[in-house]
Amino acid sequence: MTSKTSPVSKNIVWHHGKLTEADRESKLGQQGAVVWFTGLSGSGKSTVAREVELALVENGKNAFVLDGDNIRHGLNSNLGFSPEDRKENIRRIGEVAKLFCQSNVIAMTAFISPYKADRDTVRALLPEGRFIEVYCAASVEACEARDAKGLYKKARAGQIPEFTGISAPYEAPDKPELALQTGGQETVEQSARKVLELLQQKGII
Ligand code: ADX
Repeated sequence: MTSKTSPVSKNIVWHHGKLTEADRESKLGQQGAVVWFTGLSGSGKSTVAREVELALVENGKNAFVLDGDNIRHGLNSNLGFSPEDRKENIRRIGEVAKLFCQSNVIAMTAFISPYKADRDTVRALLPEGRFIEVYCAASVEACEARDAKGLYKKARAGQIPEFTGISAPYEAPDKPELALQTGGQETVEQSARKVLELLQQKGII
């Protein structure tokens, strides 16, 4: 896995380690992967990701959740919600998730990631089969009825501009590896089990 973007700086040289990917895999006993959850705010991305993380870690796998709200407190604290900032948000997370994958961790990302093109850019960063797109298919109505953070109410009152699903777009995936009915049709445990089963089918766990 090498980097595909062209750096602005000229005098920089790519360094290789002493381990091949296969060495690393056999010594650590684990493959890396990126499980990319996408869906509206309140659609259950983080909740399901955390359930999967718990199950994986309890089974001795190194798994870690990168969560939109949390990352926006640190690495991406300088970004807002314009289309350009969301694109940069996803670009950075894609690069971070790729590093997790290269270090044989199962990274789960919980970002709205509303634009198909941005998600596809991340997919292209990763080796075939290691980017697993999981669509949390809860409707605006379902998320708004839940409104755990009270943000839909604020958005409807015009207090949050460019709010996804209300005043900013969400482009659902056409062919996600998995679609979860997180709008109330299935439980968190059922959704998490589907993700775990898919990881098994793909030979990642
Ligand atoms: S993304 O669109 O750039 O992928 P991200 O997942 O990082 O979004 O952050 C989304 C979270 O930020 C939401 O769950 C919500 O808590 C909060 N948020 C604040 N403002 C907005 C907004 N305008 N649109 C969507 N979510 C927002």
